[in-house]
Amino acid sequence: MSSWIDSAEQILYGKSLEEKLCSIEPFEDIDLKLHHYPSLPGRNKTIEFSDRKQKFPGKGSLIEDEKKAIAFHFFANHELLALEMMAAALLVYPHRDEAGIRFKKDLIATMKDEQKHMKLYIIRMKELGIEFGDFPLNDFFWRQTPNLKTPEQFYALMALTFESANLDFASYYAEVFKELGDEKSVQTMNIVLEDEIIHVARGARWMDRVNKGNDLWSFYMDNLPPLLTPCRAKGILYKPELRTRSGLSSDFVDKLTNYQDDYRITQRKTWKATP
Ligand SMILES: [Fe+2]
Ligand SMILES: [Fe+2]
Repeated sequence: MSSWIDSAEQILYGKSLEEKLCSIEPFEDIDLKLHHYPSLPGRNKTIEFSDRKQKFPGKGSLIEDEKKAIAFHFFANHELLALEMMAAALLVYPHRDEAGIRFKKDLIATMKDEQKHMKLYIIRMKELGIEFGDFPLNDFFWRQTPNLKTPEQFYALMALTFESANLDFASYYAEVFKELGDEKSVQTMNIVLEDEIIHVARGARWMDRVNKGNDLWSFYMDNLPPLLTPCRAKGILYKPELRTRSGLSSDFVDKLTNYQDDYRITQRKTWKATP
Protein backbone atom coordinates (compact mmCIF):
# COMPACT_ATOMS: atom_id res chain seq x y z
CA MET A 1 0.00 0.00 0.00
CA SER A 2 1.33 3.41 -0.81
CA SER A 3 1.95 6.14 1.76
CA TRP A 4 2.67 9.88 1.89
CA ILE A 5 6.36 8.94 1.57
CA ASP A 6 5.67 7.35 -1.83
CA SER A 7 3.65 10.42 -2.88
CA ALA A 8 6.46 12.77 -1.84
CA GLU A 9 9.06 10.65 -3.68
CA GLN A 10 6.90 10.59 -6.78
CA ILE A 11 6.55 14.38 -6.77
CA LEU A 12 10.21 15.03 -6.01
CA TYR A 13 11.96 12.43 -8.15
CA GLY A 14 9.25 11.66 -10.74
CA LYS A 15 10.02 13.28 -14.06
CA SER A 16 6.62 13.82 -15.65
CA LEU A 17 3.90 16.34 -14.99
CA GLU A 18 1.53 13.45 -14.21
CA GLU A 19 3.83 12.31 -11.40
CA LYS A 20 4.07 15.85 -10.03
CA LEU A 21 0.27 15.96 -9.95
CA CYS A 22 -0.22 12.54 -8.31
CA SER A 23 -2.74 12.21 -5.50
CA ILE A 24 -1.07 12.64 -2.12
CA GLU A 25 -1.70 10.07 0.62
CA PRO A 26 -2.59 11.37 4.10
CA PHE A 27 0.08 11.65 6.78
CA GLU A 28 0.66 8.63 9.03
CA ASP A 29 3.33 8.39 11.69
CA ILE A 30 5.52 5.82 9.92
CA ASP A 31 9.30 5.32 9.79
CA LEU A 32 11.16 7.45 7.30
CA LYS A 33 14.75 7.13 6.17
CA LEU A 34 15.72 10.79 5.95
CA HIS A 35 16.67 12.13 2.52
CA HIS A 36 18.84 15.08 1.47
CA TYR A 37 17.65 17.76 -0.90
CA PRO A 38 18.73 16.43 -4.31
CA SER A 39 20.76 18.83 -6.47
CA LEU A 40 17.70 19.09 -8.71
CA PRO A 41 14.19 17.64 -8.67
CA GLY A 42 13.24 15.08 -11.34
CA ARG A 43 12.13 16.78 -14.56
CA ASN A 44 11.78 15.21 -18.02
CA LYS A 45 12.83 16.99 -21.24
CA THR A 46 9.48 18.75 -21.55
CA ILE A 47 9.69 20.48 -18.18
CA GLU A 48 13.44 20.57 -17.49
CA PHE A 49 15.21 23.68 -16.21
CA SER A 50 16.83 25.94 -18.72
CA ASP A 51 19.62 28.51 -18.51
CA ARG A 52 17.97 30.52 -21.24
CA LYS A 53 16.53 33.72 -19.84
CA GLN A 54 12.84 34.34 -20.30
CA LYS A 55 11.64 37.84 -19.56
CA PHE A 56 8.48 38.19 -17.55
CA PRO A 57 6.02 40.01 -19.83
CA GLY A 58 5.48 43.66 -19.01
CA LYS A 59 2.06 44.75 -17.86
CA GLY A 60 1.37 46.62 -21.10
CA SER A 61 1.98 43.50 -23.23
CA LEU A 62 -0.50 41.30 -21.36
CA ILE A 63 -3.20 42.34 -23.79
CA GLU A 64 -1.63 39.76 -26.14
CA ASP A 65 -2.74 36.17 -25.52
CA GLU A 66 0.76 34.75 -25.88
CA LYS A 67 2.26 37.20 -23.39
CA LYS A 68 -0.51 36.48 -20.94
CA ALA A 69 0.09 32.74 -21.41
CA ILE A 70 3.80 33.28 -20.65
CA ALA A 71 2.81 34.98 -17.39
CA PHE A 72 0.80 31.86 -16.46
CA HIS A 73 3.79 29.75 -17.52
CA PHE A 74 5.93 31.59 -14.92
CA PHE A 75 3.24 31.23 -12.26
CA ALA A 76 2.90 27.49 -12.95
CA ASN A 77 6.65 26.99 -12.63
CA HIS A 78 6.65 28.75 -9.27
CA GLU A 79 3.87 26.43 -8.11
CA LEU A 80 5.78 23.39 -9.34
CA LEU A 81 9.00 24.49 -7.63
CA ALA A 82 7.13 25.13 -4.38
CA LEU A 83 5.44 21.73 -4.68
CA GLU A 84 8.76 19.94 -5.26
CA MET A 85 10.41 21.78 -2.36
CA MET A 86 7.51 20.85 -0.09
CA ALA A 87 7.73 17.20 -1.19
CA ALA A 88 11.44 17.33 -0.38
CA ALA A 89 10.70 18.90 3.02
CA LEU A 90 8.44 15.94 3.86
CA LEU A 91 11.39 13.61 3.23
CA VAL A 92 14.29 15.68 4.55
CA TYR A 93 13.06 16.61 8.05
CA PRO A 94 12.17 14.16 10.82
CA HIS A 95 8.76 13.94 12.52
CA ARG A 96 9.87 12.96 15.99
CA ASP A 97 7.53 15.20 17.94
CA GLU A 98 4.21 16.95 17.72
CA ALA A 99 5.72 19.96 15.86
CA GLY A 100 7.32 17.64 13.29
CA ILE A 101 4.04 15.82 12.71
CA ARG A 102 2.07 19.09 12.47
CA PHE A 103 4.63 20.40 9.96
CA LYS A 104 4.02 17.44 7.66
CA LYS A 105 0.23 17.37 8.01
CA ASP A 106 0.09 21.09 7.17
CA LEU A 107 2.48 20.69 4.29
CA ILE A 108 0.44 17.91 2.71
CA ALA A 109 -2.68 20.12 2.84
CA THR A 110 -0.74 22.98 1.23
CA MET A 111 0.75 20.72 -1.46
CA LYS A 112 -2.73 19.71 -2.61
CA ASP A 113 -3.49 23.40 -3.16
CA GLU A 114 -0.23 23.92 -5.06
CA GLN A 115 -1.21 21.05 -7.38
CA LYS A 116 -4.60 22.70 -7.82
CA HIS A 117 -2.93 26.04 -8.66
CA MET A 118 -0.66 24.37 -11.19
CA LYS A 119 -3.62 22.73 -12.88
CA LEU A 120 -5.54 26.02 -13.01
CA TYR A 121 -2.57 27.85 -14.54
CA ILE A 122 -1.97 25.06 -17.06
CA ILE A 123 -5.63 25.12 -18.10
CA ARG A 124 -5.48 28.88 -18.57
CA MET A 125 -2.23 28.84 -20.57
CA LYS A 126 -3.66 26.07 -22.79
CA GLU A 127 -6.73 28.16 -23.46
CA LEU A 128 -4.35 30.94 -24.47
CA GLY A 129 -2.46 28.67 -26.84
CA ILE A 130 0.64 27.32 -25.07
CA GLU A 131 1.67 24.21 -23.14
CA PHE A 132 3.67 24.05 -19.92
CA GLY A 133 7.31 23.62 -20.98
CA ASP A 134 6.98 25.62 -24.20
CA PHE A 135 9.17 28.36 -22.66
CA PRO A 136 12.33 28.20 -20.51
CA LEU A 137 11.81 27.23 -16.86
CA ASN A 138 14.04 28.66 -14.13
CA ASP A 139 15.17 27.01 -10.91
CA PHE A 140 15.45 30.14 -8.76
CA PHE A 141 13.47 28.83 -5.76
CA TRP A 142 15.26 25.49 -5.84
CA ARG A 143 18.68 27.13 -5.58
CA GLN A 144 17.82 28.04 -1.99
CA THR A 145 17.50 24.41 -0.84
CA PRO A 146 21.12 23.94 0.35
CA ASN A 147 20.37 26.65 2.95
CA LEU A 148 17.32 24.91 4.38
CA LYS A 149 18.75 22.83 7.22
CA THR A 150 15.65 22.94 9.46
CA PRO A 151 11.86 23.19 9.03
CA GLU A 152 12.10 26.66 10.64
CA GLN A 153 14.40 27.77 7.82
CA PHE A 154 12.10 26.10 5.32
CA TYR A 155 9.05 28.04 6.53
CA ALA A 156 10.97 31.31 6.90
CA LEU A 157 11.75 31.00 3.21
CA MET A 158 8.65 29.31 1.81
CA ALA A 159 5.69 30.64 3.80
CA LEU A 160 6.96 33.90 5.23
CA THR A 161 8.93 34.98 2.15
CA PHE A 162 7.98 33.34 -1.16
CA GLU A 163 4.31 32.71 -0.40
CA SER A 164 4.07 36.09 1.29
CA ALA A 165 5.33 37.78 -1.90
CA ASN A 166 2.88 35.67 -3.88
CA LEU A 167 0.01 37.36 -2.02
CA ASP A 168 0.97 40.64 -3.66
CA PHE A 169 1.61 39.07 -7.06
CA ALA A 170 -1.70 37.16 -7.13
CA SER A 171 -3.59 40.25 -6.03
CA TYR A 172 -1.73 42.53 -8.48
CA TYR A 173 -2.30 40.30 -11.49
CA ALA A 174 -5.95 39.77 -10.53
CA GLU A 175 -6.29 43.56 -10.86
CA VAL A 176 -4.31 43.70 -14.11
CA PHE A 177 -6.48 40.99 -15.68
CA LYS A 178 -9.59 42.75 -14.43
CA GLU A 179 -8.52 45.92 -16.22
CA LEU A 180 -8.17 43.79 -19.36
CA GLY A 181 -11.71 42.43 -18.84
CA ASP A 182 -10.39 38.85 -18.54
CA GLU A 183 -12.72 37.40 -15.93
CA LYS A 184 -11.41 33.83 -16.28
CA SER A 185 -7.89 34.90 -15.39
CA VAL A 186 -9.18 37.08 -12.55
CA GLN A 187 -10.96 34.06 -11.08
CA THR A 188 -7.81 31.94 -11.30
CA MET A 189 -5.72 34.58 -9.52
CA ASN A 190 -8.34 35.04 -6.81
CA ILE A 191 -8.54 31.31 -6.07
CA VAL A 192 -4.74 31.25 -5.71
CA LEU A 193 -4.75 34.37 -3.54
CA GLU A 194 -7.28 32.98 -1.06
CA ASP A 195 -5.33 29.70 -0.76
CA GLU A 196 -2.00 31.47 -0.36
CA ILE A 197 -3.40 33.54 2.50
CA ILE A 198 -4.05 30.20 4.23
CA HIS A 199 -0.56 28.89 3.37
CA VAL A 200 1.14 31.94 4.87
CA ALA A 201 -1.11 31.57 7.92
CA ARG A 202 -0.14 27.90 8.35
CA GLY A 203 3.54 28.71 8.19
CA ALA A 204 3.22 31.65 10.56
CA ARG A 205 1.18 29.65 13.08
CA TRP A 206 3.67 26.79 13.04
CA MET A 207 6.63 29.16 13.47
CA ASP A 208 4.82 30.92 16.32
CA ARG A 209 4.21 27.64 18.14
CA VAL A 210 7.79 26.47 17.77
CA ASN A 211 8.99 29.88 18.92
CA LYS A 212 6.66 29.60 21.93
CA GLY A 213 4.97 32.94 21.21
CA ASN A 214 8.24 34.93 21.40
CA ASP A 215 8.94 37.67 18.88
CA LEU A 216 8.14 36.17 15.48
CA TRP A 217 9.98 38.86 13.52
CA SER A 218 13.36 38.08 15.14
CA PHE A 219 12.70 34.36 14.74
CA TYR A 220 11.94 34.94 11.04
CA MET A 221 15.09 37.03 10.55
CA ASP A 222 17.20 34.42 12.35
CA ASN A 223 15.93 31.68 10.08
CA LEU A 224 15.95 33.46 6.74
CA PRO A 225 18.66 31.99 4.46
CA PRO A 226 21.74 34.14 3.82
CA LEU A 227 21.47 36.73 1.04
CA LEU A 228 17.71 36.91 1.27
CA THR A 229 16.01 39.76 3.06
CA PRO A 230 12.38 40.40 3.99
CA CYS A 231 12.13 42.60 0.89
CA ARG A 232 11.81 39.33 -1.01
CA ALA A 233 8.57 38.75 0.95
CA LYS A 234 6.93 41.68 -0.83
CA GLY A 235 5.60 41.77 -4.38
CA ILE A 236 5.18 44.52 -6.92
CA LEU A 237 2.37 46.27 -5.14
CA TYR A 238 2.84 45.57 -1.46
CA LYS A 239 -0.41 45.07 0.47
CA PRO A 240 0.12 44.80 4.23
CA GLU A 241 -3.56 43.97 4.76
CA LEU A 242 -3.06 40.59 3.05
CA ARG A 243 -0.54 39.67 5.78
CA THR A 244 -3.02 40.74 8.42
CA ARG A 245 -5.54 38.40 6.81
CA SER A 246 -2.93 35.63 7.22
CA GLY A 247 -3.00 36.26 10.94
CA LEU A 248 0.37 37.99 11.22
CA SER A 249 0.51 40.46 14.09
CA SER A 250 0.47 44.22 13.50
CA ASP A 251 4.00 44.34 14.91
CA PHE A 252 5.23 41.80 12.34
CA VAL A 253 3.37 43.51 9.48
CA ASP A 254 4.73 46.95 10.47
CA LYS A 255 8.28 45.61 10.54
CA LEU A 256 7.81 44.04 7.11
CA THR A 257 6.24 47.23 5.76
CA ASN A 258 9.11 49.38 6.98
CA TYR A 259 11.88 46.99 6.04
CA GLN A 260 14.14 48.33 3.31
CA ASP A 261 17.42 47.24 1.88
CA ASP A 262 19.58 47.96 -1.09
CA TYR A 263 19.52 44.38 -2.26
CA ARG A 264 19.15 44.42 -5.98
CA ILE A 265 16.87 41.36 -6.28
CA THR A 266 14.19 43.21 -4.45
CA GLN A 267 14.53 46.51 -6.29
CA ARG A 268 12.34 45.19 -8.99
CA LYS A 269 9.76 46.72 -11.24
CA THR A 270 8.44 43.38 -12.33
CA TRP A 271 8.68 39.69 -11.52
CA LYS A 272 11.92 38.52 -13.06
CA ALA A 273 12.85 34.91 -13.60
CA THR A 274 16.28 35.30 -12.12
CA PRO A 275 17.93 38.04 -10.13
FE1 LIG B 1 0.35 28.17 -4.87
FE1 LIG C 1 1.32 28.26 -1.50
